[in-house]
Amino acid sequence: MFNIKQSLEQLLSDAMAQASGLPDARGNVIYSTRAEFGDYQANGVMAIAKQLKMNPRELASRVLECLADNALIARAEVAGPGFINLFLNNDYLAQQGARFVAQDTPLLEPTSSPQTIVVDYSSPNLAKEMHVGHLRGTIIGDCLVRVLEACGHRVIRQNHVGDWGTQFGMLIAHMESLRAQGDSLTTDLADLESFYRAAKQRFDDEPGFADTARGYVVKLQQGDPACLTAWQTFIDESLTHCEAVYARLGVTLQRADLKPESFYNPELAGIIRQLDEAGLLSVSEGARCVFMEEFKGKEGALLPTIVQKSDGGYLYATTDLAAIQYRAGTLKADRVLYVVDARQSLHFQQVFAIARKAGFAPSSCALEHIAYGTMMGEDGKPFKTRSGDTVKLIDLLEESVRRAHTVVSEKNPGLEEALRQEIASVVGIAAVKYADLSKNRTSDYIFDWNTMLSFEGNTAPYMLYAYARIMSILRRQENTMPAAEAALLLEAAEERSLLLKILQFQETVQVVASEGYPNTLCTYLYELAGVFMRFYEACPVLKAEGALRDSRLSLVSLTAKTLDEGLNLLGLKTLQQM
Ligand code: ARG
Repeated sequence: MFNIKQSLEQLLSDAMAQASGLPDARGNVIYSTRAEFGDYQANGVMAIAKQLKMNPRELASRVLECLADNALIARAEVAGPGFINLFLNNDYLAQQGARFVAQDTPLLEPTSSPQTIVVDYSSPNLAKEMHVGHLRGTIIGDCLVRVLEACGHRVIRQNHVGDWGTQFGMLIAHMESLRAQGDSLTTDLADLESFYRAAKQRFDDEPGFADTARGYVVKLQQGDPACLTAWQTFIDESLTHCEAVYARLGVTLQRADLKPESFYNPELAGIIRQLDEAGLLSVSEGARCVFMEEFKGKEGALLPTIVQKSDGGYLYATTDLAAIQYRAGTLKADRVLYVVDARQSLHFQQVFAIARKAGFAPSSCALEHIAYGTMMGEDGKPFKTRSGDTVKLIDLLEESVRRAHTVVSEKNPGLEEALRQEIASVVGIAAVKYADLSKNRTSDYIFDWNTMLSFEGNTAPYMLYAYARIMSILRRQENTMPAAEAALLLEAAEERSLLLKILQFQETVQVVASEGYPNTLCTYLYELAGVFMRFYEACPVLKAEGALRDSRLSLVSLTAKTLDEGLNLLGLKTLQQM
């Protein structure tokens, strides 16, 4: 597969192994931070030299002598304490670039070793409406499935929605009593959030209501048909709310991707039995738990993972164990990604460890928690409304579109209103998504309307505007586009930088696929837009002539193609005009 960084890593590792006599020596190729240090830099020499008690610069020169003949590297030199600076060959870059100029050559080549990858994401609890807490998991997950699919993997989405548990007894009790009063429920359920709040209040305050609710939980578990019907009505309604959010966000999840918690109910007794057979179960205060050496509390006491309560009820962890067995066994996953809030880290560590010990997932099946931090308000506390309520996701998205409309109208007052609205709906959604995706997912971040809707910096408006601007350059040249086989000329440094950046698209996407950090792709695209601007300032395109003009136009159109594909992988719609 086309991957410059990996090819260099291979070349340098081979040379390192030969020079050091250590078969596992790695080149450790990274991006150079400054142009004078080359395009890439290998920094593996120092560690190996230390291990062998050799002079690192001497080892580095030996590595250079062992470097196999290749088309990629024009020049390699030892620098500083033993770095190797690598300068790529212009002819190689131009040839590779020319392959992509042909309209139908995809920028991403599918991997030669496709995997089956299960991605568990979004997964809201259906008892309530989706709120801002679900935003990150939904959009990070959706970006990762797009990236993995683009790399040629077989992706199985799993929306592990919470549709089971005691809350539903309370909701059904509330539904049934409203129905008994002759209520059709349609209007009540239209606002799930207030419906939940009303039910909760009755549960807390109304004498007898809590018992009724608990009675419904038991009935539900026993499969009482009337109770199941009421439950199903509620679930369908709640899913319709989720789907409205997905549609608005442009998220790819479908009904067919649902594997709700209740799907695993029939397996739970078997999970307990298997844990018992594996000798992993203990009983503590009547509850069945798993204790593991690797999970200790502050005082050194072992922490329990409860899998069955004393009343026989199962827990979140039990369902997750059943889900692992299903994903590894039935779906035959090579990798399972859990795009879930970082606050559930301990849960996943415990569940993964139990699954390994019980043999629910073979060691060949990777289990990865793709954790993300919390979205904070400007006050640095988890994002809430002014009155301290949770913010419904759909309201947040609508507000973003409204704000985008104001911004777009200020920027371009001459546009027709209908077009402005269309642009606002793309920019508003893109702003929310990009603001999130462009941050390192493991940290908390402060949600800030002004930065995310700004046309400056690493933001959606900036990226979409950069793309629209390039498209307008190309539109003006529609009738004079170069032939597909036009050669790329790399005379100016800016031309070379632009092409190199474009050629690094595939390796960037592959890193996102393997490590699961969408911000890597955002940074790349932002840098690409910047490199393009410098190219466009330094290298006249339309005023150039002949082969030079063709080459530059090809670079412009390759940039557009790369930006378009990259923004699509992030789940952003692009605009032809802004
Ligand atoms: N429903 C859970 C929540 O809202 C998230 C589920 C994540 N997936 C899982 N397999 N546990 O917190």
